[in-house]
Amino acid sequence: MKIYKAIKKDHDIQRELCHKIRNTSGDTEERKELWEQLQRELEVHAVAEERYFYSPLVDSDEMQEDARHGMAEHHEMDELIDELNDTDMSSPHWLATLKKLIEKVEHHLEDEEEDFFDKAKDLYAEDEAESLAKSYEATMDEYRKTWPESIPGK
Ligand SMILES: [Fe+2]
Ligand SMILES: [Fe+2]
Repeated sequence: MKIYKAIKKDHDIQRELCHKIRNTSGDTEERKELWEQLQRELEVHAVAEERYFYSPLVDSDEMQEDARHGMAEHHEMDELIDELNDTDMSSPHWLATLKKLIEKVEHHLEDEEEDFFDKAKDLYAEDEAESLAKSYEATMDEYRKTWPESIPGK
Protein backbone atom coordinates (compact mmCIF):
# COMPACT_ATOMS: atom_id res chain seq x y z
CA MET A 1 0.00 0.00 0.00
CA LYS A 2 1.17 3.52 -0.74
CA ILE A 3 0.93 6.53 1.53
CA TYR A 4 -2.04 8.00 -0.41
CA LYS A 5 -4.25 5.00 0.19
CA ALA A 6 -3.19 4.69 3.84
CA ILE A 7 -4.17 8.33 4.39
CA LYS A 8 -7.41 8.00 2.41
CA LYS A 9 -8.52 5.12 4.66
CA ASP A 10 -8.17 7.31 7.72
CA HIS A 11 -9.88 10.24 5.98
CA ASP A 12 -12.86 7.96 5.48
CA ILE A 13 -12.92 7.21 9.22
CA GLN A 14 -12.94 10.97 9.87
CA ARG A 15 -15.78 11.51 7.37
CA GLU A 16 -17.85 8.80 9.00
CA LEU A 17 -17.30 10.26 12.48
CA CYS A 18 -18.17 13.77 11.24
CA HIS A 19 -21.35 12.42 9.74
CA LYS A 20 -22.34 10.60 12.93
CA ILE A 21 -21.56 13.37 15.38
CA ARG A 22 -23.45 15.96 13.35
CA ASN A 23 -26.64 14.04 14.12
CA THR A 24 -26.18 13.87 17.88
CA SER A 25 -27.74 16.30 20.31
CA GLY A 26 -27.13 17.80 23.74
CA ASP A 27 -24.81 16.63 26.45
CA THR A 28 -25.22 12.91 25.72
CA GLU A 29 -22.90 9.94 26.18
CA GLU A 30 -23.12 9.27 22.47
CA ARG A 31 -21.94 12.77 21.59
CA LYS A 32 -19.15 12.61 24.18
CA GLU A 33 -17.94 9.28 22.86
CA LEU A 34 -18.01 10.40 19.22
CA TRP A 35 -16.31 13.67 20.06
CA GLU A 36 -13.50 11.79 21.78
CA GLN A 37 -13.10 9.50 18.77
CA LEU A 38 -13.16 12.37 16.28
CA GLN A 39 -10.61 14.38 18.25
CA ARG A 40 -8.33 11.38 18.53
CA GLU A 41 -8.54 10.63 14.82
CA LEU A 42 -7.90 14.24 13.80
CA GLU A 43 -5.02 14.80 16.18
CA VAL A 44 -3.20 11.54 15.61
CA HIS A 45 -3.67 11.82 11.86
CA ALA A 46 -2.31 15.37 11.72
CA VAL A 47 0.89 14.34 13.52
CA ALA A 48 1.48 11.21 11.41
CA GLU A 49 0.58 12.91 8.15
CA GLU A 50 2.86 15.87 8.80
CA ARG A 51 5.69 13.51 9.57
CA TYR A 52 5.26 11.04 6.70
CA PHE A 53 3.54 13.02 3.98
CA TYR A 54 4.10 16.76 4.36
CA SER A 55 7.55 17.12 5.93
CA PRO A 56 9.51 15.66 3.01
CA LEU A 57 7.47 17.81 0.60
CA VAL A 58 8.27 21.06 2.38
CA ASP A 59 11.77 20.80 0.91
CA SER A 60 10.52 20.57 -2.67
CA ASP A 61 9.99 23.62 -4.87
CA GLU A 62 6.85 22.10 -6.35
CA MET A 63 4.94 21.46 -3.15
CA GLN A 64 6.40 23.70 -0.50
CA GLU A 65 3.45 26.06 -0.59
CA ASP A 66 0.83 23.29 -0.56
CA ALA A 67 2.55 21.53 2.33
CA ARG A 68 2.63 24.75 4.35
CA HIS A 69 -1.01 25.39 3.52
CA GLY A 70 -2.01 21.88 4.62
CA MET A 71 -0.13 22.13 7.89
CA ALA A 72 -1.58 25.59 8.58
CA GLU A 73 -5.04 24.07 8.22
CA HIS A 74 -4.12 21.38 10.78
CA HIS A 75 -3.33 24.22 13.12
CA GLU A 76 -6.68 25.89 12.43
CA MET A 77 -8.44 22.60 13.19
CA ASP A 78 -6.51 22.35 16.47
CA GLU A 79 -7.77 25.77 17.47
CA LEU A 80 -11.36 24.76 16.79
CA ILE A 81 -10.84 21.54 18.78
CA ASP A 82 -9.56 23.61 21.73
CA GLU A 83 -12.54 25.94 21.42
CA LEU A 84 -14.93 22.99 21.46
CA ASN A 85 -13.26 21.57 24.55
CA ASP A 86 -13.67 24.92 26.28
CA THR A 87 -17.39 25.14 25.43
CA ASP A 88 -20.41 23.49 27.05
CA MET A 89 -21.37 20.59 24.82
CA SER A 90 -25.10 21.24 25.10
CA SER A 91 -24.86 24.90 24.03
CA PRO A 92 -25.73 26.16 20.53
CA HIS A 93 -22.22 27.60 20.31
CA TRP A 94 -20.74 24.12 20.62
CA LEU A 95 -22.78 22.85 17.69
CA ALA A 96 -22.02 25.94 15.59
CA THR A 97 -18.30 25.47 16.25
CA LEU A 98 -18.52 21.76 15.48
CA LYS A 99 -20.09 22.60 12.13
CA LYS A 100 -17.23 25.00 11.40
CA LEU A 101 -14.74 22.26 12.23
CA ILE A 102 -16.53 19.70 10.04
CA GLU A 103 -16.59 22.13 7.11
CA LYS A 104 -12.91 22.77 7.49
CA VAL A 105 -12.10 19.07 7.77
CA GLU A 106 -14.13 18.18 4.69
CA HIS A 107 -12.55 20.91 2.60
CA HIS A 108 -9.10 19.92 3.83
CA LEU A 109 -9.53 16.23 2.99
CA GLU A 110 -10.67 17.20 -0.49
CA ASP A 111 -7.60 19.39 -1.05
CA GLU A 112 -5.38 16.53 -0.02
CA GLU A 113 -7.10 13.81 -2.01
CA GLU A 114 -7.89 15.76 -5.14
CA ASP A 115 -4.91 18.05 -5.44
CA PHE A 116 -1.97 17.25 -3.17
CA PHE A 117 -1.88 13.49 -3.75
CA ASP A 118 -1.62 13.92 -7.53
CA LYS A 119 1.21 16.39 -7.19
CA ALA A 120 3.01 14.25 -4.59
CA LYS A 121 2.89 11.24 -6.91
CA ASP A 122 5.35 13.07 -9.16
CA LEU A 123 7.73 13.58 -6.26
CA TYR A 124 7.62 10.33 -4.28
CA ALA A 125 9.03 7.23 -5.98
CA GLU A 126 6.75 4.19 -5.69
CA ASP A 127 8.92 2.37 -3.17
CA GLU A 128 9.25 5.54 -1.13
CA ALA A 129 5.45 5.96 -1.11
CA GLU A 130 5.18 2.38 0.18
CA SER A 131 7.69 2.80 2.95
CA LEU A 132 6.07 6.07 4.02
CA ALA A 133 2.75 4.19 4.30
CA LYS A 134 4.32 1.62 6.63
CA SER A 135 5.77 4.28 8.90
CA TYR A 136 2.55 6.27 8.79
CA GLU A 137 0.41 3.28 9.77
CA ALA A 138 2.75 2.19 12.55
CA THR A 139 2.64 5.69 14.02
CA MET A 140 -1.16 5.84 13.73
CA ASP A 141 -1.50 2.51 15.58
CA GLU A 142 0.87 3.47 18.34
CA TYR A 143 -0.41 7.03 18.81
CA ARG A 144 -4.08 6.02 18.80
CA LYS A 145 -3.33 3.73 21.75
CA THR A 146 -1.49 6.37 23.72
CA TRP A 147 -3.65 9.40 22.81
CA PRO A 148 -3.78 12.11 24.11
CA GLU A 149 -0.32 11.79 25.68
CA SER A 150 1.09 10.91 22.23
CA ILE A 151 0.28 14.35 20.85
CA PRO A 152 3.13 16.83 21.25
CA GLY A 153 2.02 19.88 23.21
CA LYS A 154 -1.12 18.25 24.65
FE1 LIG B 1 -4.25 16.85 6.68
FE1 LIG C 1 -5.18 14.09 5.84
